[in-house]
Amino acid sequence: MPTSKNYLTDFRFFLDRTDEKVILEKAIIGQLPPDKFQSVIDIGAGEGSISIPLSKRFSRYLAIEQNNLHADILRKNNIEVLEKPFPCKISERFDAVISCHSISHKPEVYKPFINSAVEILRPGGSFLLVDFRGRNDSWSSLMQKIDKPSVAEDEFHVNQIYSILLSRGETQWSIVKSKLLTKDLEDMVKSLSFVYSGGDRKRREYFLSKREIVVNVLKKRHWCDYGYMFIFEHKIINLKLK
Ligand SMILES: C[S@@+](CC[C@H](N)C(=O)[O-])C[C@H]1O[C@@H](n2cnc3c(N)ncnc32)[C@H](O)[C@@H]1O
Repeated sequence: MPTSKNYLTDFRFFLDRTDEKVILEKAIIGQLPPDKFQSVIDIGAGEGSISIPLSKRFSRYLAIEQNNLHADILRKNNIEVLEKPFPCKISERFDAVISCHSISHKPEVYKPFINSAVEILRPGGSFLLVDFRGRNDSWSSLMQKIDKPSVAEDEFHVNQIYSILLSRGETQWSIVKSKLLTKDLEDMVKSLSFVYSGGDRKRREYFLSKREIVVNVLKKRHWCDYGYMFIFEHKIINLKLK
């Protein structure tokens, strides 16, 4: 699935205002210490802000990335990439599988995704899933205001994902927080519209059509001395195979 250059520009705008990637890289290394986990496969490795530093920490690091622009960046940084949508055929077995903000909440996608991810693990290996939706966090509360039906549906599927993981082994959970900081209200709206849309034009338009509600929430709850601050909660689930 190729992505437009606009997507990368908007993404970089968001990246310049958040500590998310640094926080998540640290959290992943904390869960998968490189002296214990030598080989990892990163499904949906992205444009490199987490995967490039991660690739330098493990003896064997393989990225799977379906987006050609992202895959090109990774290759230019000497990362071996399978430029394909996962699930795909992989005969090698790994100490750990990482999926950091790359799992879809659509059942026809997450069911085969999890089953196949678990299959490429060595016995005793870890599947590390980083996902977005916390409950009662700032993002969920903003979503309740602008897109309530999708919040309920999303929550149902997130619970389904957790039950599938639980059925496959022992799970440990943790939450890490990242912040998005902007001086300017408009920059915060723009950054949040990127988070909501993931680069999808229609979703971006929908988010911006709710601008008044978003601005009210930002002015009421997210104003700080610097400008505006939005905290995101990331759920990290470490599944150790039975
Ligand atoms: C939100 S980005 C996250 C990137 C990176 N893991 C990070 O946290 O910075 C999601 C990435 O996963 C990729 N992706 C999503 N589903 C995928 C799949 N089934 N197979 C391969 N890549 C996938 C997308 O192309 C995108 O680059």
